[in-house]
Amino acid sequence: MQSRRTFLAGSLLAYTGTRPLRGAARSYAEIEKLLARDDIKGRLNKSELPTPALIVDLDAFEHNVARMAAHAKASGRSLRPHAKTHKCPEIAKILIKAGAVGACAAKISEAEALARDGVTGLLITTAVIGPHKIERAVRLTSRRPETILCVDNAQNVRDLNSAAGAARQKLNLAVDLWISNRTGIRPGEPALALAQLIDSLPHVKLAGIQAYAGNASHTKGFEQRKKFSREVMAQAVDTRNLFEKHGIECPLLTGGSTGTYNIDSEIDGITELQPGSFIFMDIDYNRIGGKDGDVYQDFRNSLFVTATVVSKPTDSSAIVDAGLKAFATDRGYGPSLHEREGISYAFAGDEHGRLSLADSASSMNVGDRLDFVVPHCDPTVNLYDRIYGVRGGAVECAWRISARGMSQ
Ligand SMILES: Cc1ncc(COP(=O)(O)O)c(C=O)c1O
Repeated sequence: MQSRRTFLAGSLLAYTGTRPLRGAARSYAEIEKLLARDDIKGRLNKSELPTPALIVDLDAFEHNVARMAAHAKASGRSLRPHAKTHKCPEIAKILIKAGAVGACAAKISEAEALARDGVTGLLITTAVIGPHKIERAVRLTSRRPETILCVDNAQNVRDLNSAAGAARQKLNLAVDLWISNRTGIRPGEPALALAQLIDSLPHVKLAGIQAYAGNASHTKGFEQRKKFSREVMAQAVDTRNLFEKHGIECPLLTGGSTGTYNIDSEIDGITELQPGSFIFMDIDYNRIGGKDGDVYQDFRNSLFVTATVVSKPTDSSAIVDAGLKAFATDRGYGPSLHEREGISYAFAGDEHGRLSLADSASSMNVGDRLDFVVPHCDPTVNLYDRIYGVRGGAVECAWRISARGMSQ
């Protein structure tokens, strides 16, 4: 008679075609125990992960981290990658180990989650508005005094100053410039007036300027992107010079993105780069085009959603277990297959995706697993509790996305 272990091993191989790392297949209860212990290096197979699963190809990820860190170093700029992409303290710490001075956080709650797990050098890139969030910012800063907060409003600066005074603290502020289509104060004289206000108050200190141009980052074509970014960033450099002309020290000018990192690092006066998506990449970024062609390939695709074929209604179609809840849908197109030809994906509801199969892919069957490149990395990551680090077929780590959902 077949033992339960042999039976499970047989059924796993039949479904995945992948041999478990060590000997026989495990039950899900065993896998669950491994995951709960966060001690899975060398113990867990990628094919054992419950799907849909968010995975990072560690070779590609490490390549991306090393490339950006080397670029920042060679161009004499500091690097403070944006954690809104990964929302994961482990990743922020890996980037710091590679040379980053800290991490950007989009919101106060994201910053709190990163700080709780030991991330230092935080820059909160959106304004902290209202008494409760200001209270939280002061509390965070009492533990991490190097934290920098962005401001674009005089009353907000006064409120921060009062709250910091009451707590006998001093807050570091960066003037957020409106060089794009979102937040910020207008460059030049309006920004100077805000910097002068900061300079005049006892409990706040000017750390510098933040200038982020979201519409430059995704401008298609390298030359067009370069022209656009140079134009908008020139306003930030001029404003920094204006501050200094008026005797206001402005050590920091931070900005840039995955799309413009090698453009902005050539502009005199920009001291720091804050790209995010480069660690993972996505279809959206692949499409902006690089220096050497239509596909942007400075960084490798490292982020994937692994899904399982759960139904095969016809020879030319299959259904996977990853739908609207597995991928961000803001880009108007679905994910694409990683390294597989003849298969296209369309959303088929909350839980499912429909694959159209060319003849070459018609042998695909229930139980097969597929990796998808995601349309947009940041909001996709925000849908998952964990990201599994994979090398070859082995799972090396499971990082908690502890700032997931932290959009407050
Ligand atoms: C303020 C700020 N800085 C940097 C980034 C990073 O941009 P990317 O992910 O395009 O590199 C973002 C992304 O939205 C951002 O909002």
